[in-house]
Amino acid sequence: MADPLPPVIAIDGPSASGKGTIAEAVAQRLGFHYLDSGALYRIVGLVSGERGANLDNDLEISNISLNLNIKFEFSRVWVDGRDVSELIRGEVAGAAASRVAVLPGVRKALMALQRGFRRLPGLVADGRDMGSVVFPDAALKIYLTASPEERARRRYKQLMEKDSGASMAALLQDIRDRDFRDSTRAAAPLLKCADAIEIDTTGMPVGEVVAQVLHLYQKTQ
Ligand code: C5P
Repeated sequence: MADPLPPVIAIDGPSASGKGTIAEAVAQRLGFHYLDSGALYRIVGLVSGERGANLDNDLEISNISLNLNIKFEFSRVWVDGRDVSELIRGEVAGAAASRVAVLPGVRKALMALQRGFRRLPGLVADGRDMGSVVFPDAALKIYLTASPEERARRRYKQLMEKDSGASMAALLQDIRDRDFRDSTRAAAPLLKCADAIEIDTTGMPVGEVVAQVLHLYQKTQ
């Protein structure tokens, strides 16, 4: 019989729900690999924008996605030999990411890349469709949420640390727009799958959420 595939913990949810922080901490505690799938869409959005490509043209953007040399190393992200770690975190890359993410060809192009992260001893993957599309056989599926106001506050705090002049009202609007785009698109919309466990992190400290996810994972063993 073939060896079973390495276990996956899928953590999905809307933007700024704390997925990245929680997923990275859980991966570290378990010694698992970590996939930040949003970073892949951000890279495609960023590079496509820089090249002046039409962000609504599936064929053009899929071709760009298929030909990128992406490397994650020591918490940094490299594309074709260039460190884009800071650039992909900006609001411009975020907005471009959510635009190219509606294109079915782009989602298909990124599928094999994402599945390639599934290696021993296991993987924690965060995104929008980790449990529903990319790793439907995940051992544990978590759906993380928080109120839009709380998510805007978190993002505001993050951006303030970087001295950005963002306004709370603009961030809240951006989060609402992105939620709408992510949940109403035809290709792999953001949704809580039937077998996912929802955790509302509004007002919850990070350590508590991490402990809850680890506890839920232990129960699957
Ligand atoms: O998670 P993050 O905010 O970095 O993702 C950026 C954008 O990429 C999201 O707004 C979403 O449109 C898209 N995305 C996606 N599927 C994923 C991860 C991200 O469509 N698995």
